[in-house]
Amino acid sequence: MPTANTALLTGASAGIGAVYADRLARRGHDLILVARDETRLNALAARLRAETGRVVEVLPADLASRPDLLRVEQRLRQDASIGMLLNNAGIAVAGPMQGSDVDRLEAMVDINITAALRLAHTAVANFMARGAGTLINVSSVLALAPERFGAVYSGSKAFLLNLSLSLHTELAGFGIRVQAVLPGATRTELWGKAGIDMAAMPADRLMDAGEMVDAALAGLDLGEVVTIPSLPDRADWVRFDDARLALGPNLSLARAAARYRATGDAA
Ligand SMILES: NC(=O)c1ccc[n+]([C@@H]2O[C@H](COP(=O)([O-])OP(=O)(O)OC[C@H]3O[C@@H](n4cnc5c(N)ncnc54)[C@H](OP(=O)(O)O)[C@@H]3O)[C@@H](O)[C@H]2O)c1
Repeated sequence: MPTANTALLTGASAGIGAVYADRLARRGHDLILVARDETRLNALAARLRAETGRVVEVLPADLASRPDLLRVEQRLRQDASIGMLLNNAGIAVAGPMQGSDVDRLEAMVDINITAALRLAHTAVANFMARGAGTLINVSSVLALAPERFGAVYSGSKAFLLNLSLSLHTELAGFGIRVQAVLPGATRTELWGKAGIDMAAMPADRLMDAGEMVDAALAGLDLGEVVTIPSLPDRADWVRFDDARLALGPNLSLARAAARYRATGDAA
């Protein structure tokens, strides 16, 4: 069986995905770069080939288009050299749900959720057969702070967080790493595309994409399942997660809680 040294990255033409491409090539991975903008993908691929000597291929695809998505899935299914999937492609629709075009919201679900799910499903099948592989899902801190941004965007990112937490448990014992990365506001084109002026945001709240990705990869090296690049004290996340887990024994019981039962129902 060939060494599974290739990483397939979605959303590699810009921002966080382009930085991951750079860092993963420098870590010795060959790359398959997926996004719509073929010109930008080719320019990045040429630079990385020249600077790192790695094999870098471009696979242009619109992940909101089913035929394109199926082509990327097919590549994941057929290429035994792929040992890492970075589910990074995403769009953000800002503002209240009711003020947003529902077709645009649906496209966001198609890219942020459906494409990520289908690609993870295909990649993990191969990883399980091989007993090794790494799945990285780029979520967002908005998975934990849904009140701060568009409802559907934060919902899509919560999907990726829960998917990652659940898969981490489901795949324990198969030699597969699963990591959810929860960036805070990061300096990329995403904001402008969402109609938000990054210059108006407080600079001390915006991280450079390079620093974000380096932190995320450091988190991967540390064996983290959830990496929040800006969180100063890891214990804050552990406490949050422990509180969630502590609900466990009482989340599903035969009887409703006493406060929901008619007064006098003591049975
Ligand atoms: N920037 C932030 O503050 C921030 C914070 C938390 C999480 N994130 C997440 O980080 C990820 C990367 O975002 P970014 O900030 O790097 O944004 P970005 O600079 O806008 O890059 C988005 C990438 O996704 C690709 N993409 C968008 N629609 C696509 C489609 N239909 N098919 C294929 N590729 C598509 C874009 O390429 P093409 O246009 O060439 O297709 C681009 O490569 C996203 O999942 C985002 O939700 C970002």
